[in-house]
Amino acid sequence: AGGPWEECFEAAVQLALRAGQIIRKALSEEKRVSTKTSAADLVTETDHLVEGLIISELQKRFPSHRFIAEESAAAGAKCVLTPSPTWIVDPIDGTCNFVHRFPTVAVSIGFAVDQELEFGVIYHCTEERLYTGRRGRGAFCNGQRLRVSGETDISKALVLTEIGPKRDPATLKLFLSNMERLLHAKAHGVRVIGSSTLALCHLASGAADAYYQFGLHCWDLAAATVIIREAGGIVMDTSEWLLRAPEKWRRS
Ligand code: IPD
Repeated sequence: AGGPWEECFEAAVQLALRAGQIIRKALSEEKRVSTKTSAADLVTETDHLVEGLIISELQKRFPSHRFIAEESAAAGAKCVLTPSPTWIVDPIDGTCNFVHRFPTVAVSIGFAVDQELEFGVIYHCTEERLYTGRRGRGAFCNGQRLRVSGETDISKALVLTEIGPKRDPATLKLFLSNMERLLHAKAHGVRVIGSSTLALCHLASGAADAYYQFGLHCWDLAAATVIIREAGGIVMDTSEWLLRAPEKWRRS
């Protein structure tokens, strides 16, 4: 037990649970919805409220820490990861689900020091599942250890992806052609659940075997990355990976 970031981890858990309560209550109420980068990129007053709560509480307790958060970034704040302790926050992941009362919504809080992810806390608000991962100390859901499936054969895999908010022809074509390739490869199934962080939590718990998406932001990924790594999985940026890959793979 203990560890240098114990107090931060405990604060993240408490705040994720508190935020989850607010989101759960707001889910069934009327919402004021605005759009951001596209007609499918949504934000509500609850996103702002929860992000404000998380950041102000953390700032009070840890005044020297830095923040990268979805709605602050949308309002123009710079996203810079310095060596300082940095919180990476998505107040509601699955805002589109939230707007439609589709009950797959989460709070995601990641924490990095020296540009390395230390821990991640993700709270599935409606199912009241708390996913946590701490570097070198395992990944858990409500206290139960998580383990990725280990499946490597696509024809035996359940694959998760997300559409993202972009609707331009090139993005749609890419999304559909990837879907087609997966189905041709006879994947058992492809699921789009509307929350990238919860999709990644399913991966960590072995309920799905792979996940991919284009255009993810760091707040979609930070907390989940620790959880997946600690569950024995791998997170990679395929574009960077391809640059280093053998020539023959780059062509296919
Ligand atoms: C979005 C969701 C969605 C994914 C998008 C994300 P938000 O996050 O995770 O599933 O496809 O790329 O931006 O806006 O609901 O926090």
